[in-house]
Amino acid sequence: MRTASALAHPNIAFIKYWGDLDPGLRIALNSSLSMNLDGLHTRTQVRFDESLSGDVLILDGQPVTGPALDRVTRFLDHVRSLAGVRFPAEVTSANNFPTGAGIASSASAFAALSLAAASALGLSLTEIDLSRLARLGSGSACRSVPGGFVEWQAGSDHASSYAYSIASPSHWDLVDCIAIVDDVHKPTGSSEGHTLSGTSPLQAARVADTPRRLELCRRAVLERDFDLLASIVEVDCNMMHAVMLTSSPPLVYWQPATLEIIQSVQAWRGQGVSVCYTIDAGPNVHVITLSSEATRIHERLRSIPSIANVLLASPGGPARLTDPFTGTG
Ligand code: DP6
Repeated sequence: MRTASALAHPNIAFIKYWGDLDPGLRIALNSSLSMNLDGLHTRTQVRFDESLSGDVLILDGQPVTGPALDRVTRFLDHVRSLAGVRFPAEVTSANNFPTGAGIASSASAFAALSLAAASALGLSLTEIDLSRLARLGSGSACRSVPGGFVEWQAGSDHASSYAYSIASPSHWDLVDCIAIVDDVHKPTGSSEGHTLSGTSPLQAARVADTPRRLELCRRAVLERDFDLLASIVEVDCNMMHAVMLTSSPPLVYWQPATLEIIQSVQAWRGQGVSVCYTIDAGPNVHVITLSSEATRIHERLRSIPSIANVLLASPGGPARLTDPFTGTG
C-alpha cells in the first residue's frame, strides 16, 4: 500500500517572502519568518498506484485538472525521482477553512502533500529535507513543515534554502484574528507577483534591508516583545505592499475595507492595546494580538460592517502524518 495521509497548517509571515533568486527552485531573495496557524489546516491523502493512467487531483471533493494539476504533477515528479519510481498518484485534499476566504492555502497544501507523498513512497526524510521539498511546490510551504514560529533561511541553492522552528507553539500566546473582507476579487497569484517584484524600483531596497528587519523580528519573538513585533511586522508588510504597488503592472491588493481595518488597528494600539496588522497577497487583514486581548479584538472587528467573517488562530504545530482520510473536511 503506497498510501499516506498528512495534515499541515497555513502560516502567516511576519517578515515576508516576495521575489525569487531562482524561480524554478523557489529560492527566495530574502529570508522570512512566520507563525503557523492552529485550527486551520489542509488534510491530504496520497495514493501511488501503477494502474492509474496519470496523476489525479481531488480538491474539496471536486476533481481538478489544468494548471493546478500540472503544478501537483511537477511537484510529484520531484518526489518520484527521489524515490526512483514512476507511478502516478491520486491526491485527495481538503481545507477546513472556508474556500474563497482568501487565505493562501498553497503553504499548507504543499507541506501536507510533501509529507504524505514522501511517506507513501517510504522515503525517510528529516524535517529539513521535507522543508526543502515543500519549497519546490510553494515557497511559503517550507515554513509550514516545522512547528510554531519558523524562520526560512533563504540560502543560495537547493541545499541551503529551508525552514526551521525558532520557538515552539507554546512559546508565545499570540492570536491571529483574520479579518475576511467581503467582495474578495481574484488577485494576481503569488507566483506571478514574485516574478513582477523585480520591476519595482523599491524591491532592491526592501531586500537589502531585510536582514535588519528579520533580526528585530526574531528578537521580538524570542523575547516576547509585542511592541517591537508590532513595529517591525507592520513596516515589513508595508514595504512588500509598496513593492507591489510600484511593480509594472502595479498590484493593488487592498480594498477600502483593508485600509479601514489598518486605521482601526492603529487607533486601538494608540489606546494601549497590543495589536498590529499584516496583509498577504489579498485584501484580508491578519490582526495579530495577545490571547488576553483576543476576545476584545474579535468583538471590535466583528462590529466593522465591511468585515464578512473573522477567523481566530493560535500558533500551530508542525506538519504531521494522520489516519487515512477520504476527502471531506
Ligand atoms: C505574500 O509561497 O504563495 O504570502 O511559491 O508562488 O506559491 P509561491 O508563493 P507563495 O508566496 C507567499 C507570499 C506572501 C508572503 C509570505 O507568505 O511570505
